[in-house]
Amino acid sequence: MKALEGVKILDFTHVQSGPTCTQLLAWFGADVIKVERPGVGDATRKQLQDVPDADSLYFTMLNHNKRSIELNSKDETGKEVLTRLVQECDVLVENFAPGALDRMGFGWDAIQKINPRMIMASVKGFGPGKYEDCKVYENVAQCAGGSASTTGFLDGPPLVTGAQIGDSGTGLHLALGIVTALFQRETTGKGQKVLAAMQDGVLNLARVKLRDQQRLDHGPLKEYSQFGEGIPFGEATPRAGNDSGGGQPGRILKCKGWETDPNAYTYFITQAAVWKNVCDVIGRPEWKDAEGYATPPDRLDKLNEIFDAVEQWTMTKTKFEVMDICNPLNIPVGPILSMKEIAEDDGLRATGTIVECDHPERGRYISVGCPIKLSDSPVEVERSPLLGEHTEEILRSVLGYSDEDVARIAETGAVGEVRKEAAE
Ligand code: COA
Repeated sequence: MKALEGVKILDFTHVQSGPTCTQLLAWFGADVIKVERPGVGDATRKQLQDVPDADSLYFTMLNHNKRSIELNSKDETGKEVLTRLVQECDVLVENFAPGALDRMGFGWDAIQKINPRMIMASVKGFGPGKYEDCKVYENVAQCAGGSASTTGFLDGPPLVTGAQIGDSGTGLHLALGIVTALFQRETTGKGQKVLAAMQDGVLNLARVKLRDQQRLDHGPLKEYSQFGEGIPFGEATPRAGNDSGGGQPGRILKCKGWETDPNAYTYFITQAAVWKNVCDVIGRPEWKDAEGYATPPDRLDKLNEIFDAVEQWTMTKTKFEVMDICNPLNIPVGPILSMKEIAEDDGLRATGTIVECDHPERGRYISVGCPIKLSDSPVEVERSPLLGEHTEEILRSVLGYSDEDVARIAETGAVGEVRKEAAE
C-alpha cells in the first residue's frame, strides 16, 4: 500500500512547477495521468536536449512514475474523453497561463458540474490582483517574491539563485494544498480550488527577509556584516552576501585547493555557544576571553578580522577535513558540494535521494529521487513515460472504453496519430 493509492490525478501540468507537484504525488502512490498535446507533448521533452531524439533530462527528471495520454483538449472528441477523465479523477492539476483552462471549456464552474468532488489545483505566477494575467517563469518569481533583492552582495546587483524556488518550490506548496484538500474532502465530500502563486511561494521561502524589513524600523540589523563594517542601512532589507540568516555569524571560506577547484570552500559558522572551540581550532586561544572578543556583541565589528583568521586555517585543510575536525567540536560547518560530488555521493544513493533510471531512448541516467521519506510508503522511482505511451491503456482501463470506442476516438486524431494506427 502506498499513502496515496487509489487517488487519481488528472495531470494537465507542463514545464517545471506543476510537474514537480504531480511527480511527488505519484511517488506517494497516486495514479498520475499526464495529458499532453498529440504529437507535441510537454514542451520540456524537447528543451535542452542532450541526446538526439530522446526526451530531455529536463522532462525525464520531472515526470517519473506518471502515465502519458495524448489528447487534444480543444477537439470535440478530445473534450468527450477529457470529460470522462474529469469524472474519474480526484484532482485536476494545471499550470497553464491564466485563462487557458476557461478557454478550453474546463474552468472551475464546468469542472464542478461534471464532478463536484474534484479538487482543482493550479500554479499561477501571481495571485488575484494587478498581475494575475501575467505569464511567469522561475526567475520572474524569484524577483517578484523578494528573493532576488535580498540575494547577492551589498555592492553588487540583485541575484537569482540556482535552486528553483519559484518552480519546484511552488510545486511543493501546491502538493501540500492538494493533500490538505483531499483530507478536507473526507469530511465535506466536496472538491475545492487550490491555488499556489509563485510569487507567494517565493515570499514564503524568503519570510526571514520580510522579518528583517520590519526590524529595520527599530534600528540597524546588527547581525548583518555591514553593521560591523559601519555601512549605514537604507530603507529596504539589504543583500547580505553569505551572512547566515539566523543571527549567528557565518561566511563561505576558502579551503585547500581553492586556487584550482571552484568548489573548494566551506561554510563556517562562529556560533556563540562554541566560540571557545573555534578559537582553539584556529589557533587563537587568546581570543576566548580577550576584551573585545569574548561576547557576540563585542565581535560584531571584528567579523572580517575573525573570519580572515578562520580562513587562514581552513585554507590549510580540505573542505572535508574541515568538516571532520569541526563536527566533533559542535562547530557548524558545511562543505560546498559540487553537482559532480553530489551525483557520486554513495550516501545519497543509499537513501534513494539520488537514483538511477533506465530509459528506452536515452539509456541510463541519474535523477533526484523523492526528498521526503515515509516509513510506510516507500518510493520506487520509475522512468518518465514516452509521449502517449499509455493512451490506449488509459482509454480502456481507466475510462472503460470498448474496442469500438477506442477505434472511433482514434479515428478523429484527438488522441494522436500513433494511437490511431494502434487502434486500427
Ligand atoms: N490540447 C490542446 N491544447 C492544449 C493542450 C492540449 N492537450 N495543452 C495545452 N494546450 C494549449 C492551451 O490551452 C493554451 O492554448 P490557448 O492559449 O489558446 O488558450 C496553449 O496550449 C498554451 O498554453 P500556455 O499555458 O499558455 O503555455 P505557454 O507556453 O504559452 O506559457 C507558461 C507557458 C509557463 C509561461 C504559462 O503556462 C504560465 O504562465 N503558467 C503559470 C505559471 C507557471 O507555472 N510558470 C512556471 C512554469 S515552470
